[in-house]
Amino acid sequence: MSDSEDDGPPQLSPHALAALQEFYAEQRLRADPGADEKYNIGIIEENWLSQFWYSQETALRLAQEAMRAAGDGGRIACVSAPSVFQKLRELQGEGASACIIFEYDKRFAIYGDEFVFYDYNKPLDLPDRIAAHSFDIVVADPPYLSEECLQKTSETIRFLTRAKVLLCTGAVMEEEAARLLGVRMCKFIPQHTRNLANEFRCYVNYDSGLD
Ligand SMILES: C[S@@+](CC[C@H](N)C(=O)[O-])C[C@H]1O[C@@H](n2cnc3c(N)ncnc32)[C@H](O)[C@@H]1O
Repeated sequence: MSDSEDDGPPQLSPHALAALQEFYAEQRLRADPGADEKYNIGIIEENWLSQFWYSQETALRLAQEAMRAAGDGGRIACVSAPSVFQKLRELQGEGASACIIFEYDKRFAIYGDEFVFYDYNKPLDLPDRIAAHSFDIVVADPPYLSEECLQKTSETIRFLTRAKVLLCTGAVMEEEAARLLGVRMCKFIPQHTRNLANEFRCYVNYDSGLD
């Protein structure tokens, strides 16, 4: 390691960063015991990356649906949907999980091998250990309500899934989602920890428990 000034500011490792964030989250919870119910999932607070966490009930419902659809021992990919990933871990028990989180926010690197850094701008830029069509279901919630973002995220989804897709995005994306992924809108309405300006929905391409 060099100590030259050209190296820029010092960077914390993901583990050190997570420990620091955990410390600050605990401080905040002491000051406001209800804070964890508001904008945090576990210790991870919403930040500037277009993060709108689901309510606990919605995260649970989506995780249960993903498990049901994946079947016993089925593999589940959570693409830009970290609260579903965390709920799956809670339900399945740490270490027993066959779930992978694909996320841009490196705070989720605390999950070690279950974390894959993912940027939708490079939809197929994934590590070699991630084989094509190796997940029984992909749950995805793209960060932005734009055609470009949905198109690129759909490329990732089609690469990862064996067949099943559970997409969560705005109601305005209905036609584009149907065209790109062959999904249809469900009756179930996902809820978030804070109110969104846009109507939000779930979409599937299989017979789900969300209707
Ligand atoms: C609309 S939020 C969906 C979160 C979901 N509602 C949940 O509770 O798990 C979008 C997610 O995309 C992630 N994200 C932000 N920028 C991204 C990028 N460039 N590529 C992929 N994901 C990104 C955010 O960190 C966030 O987890």
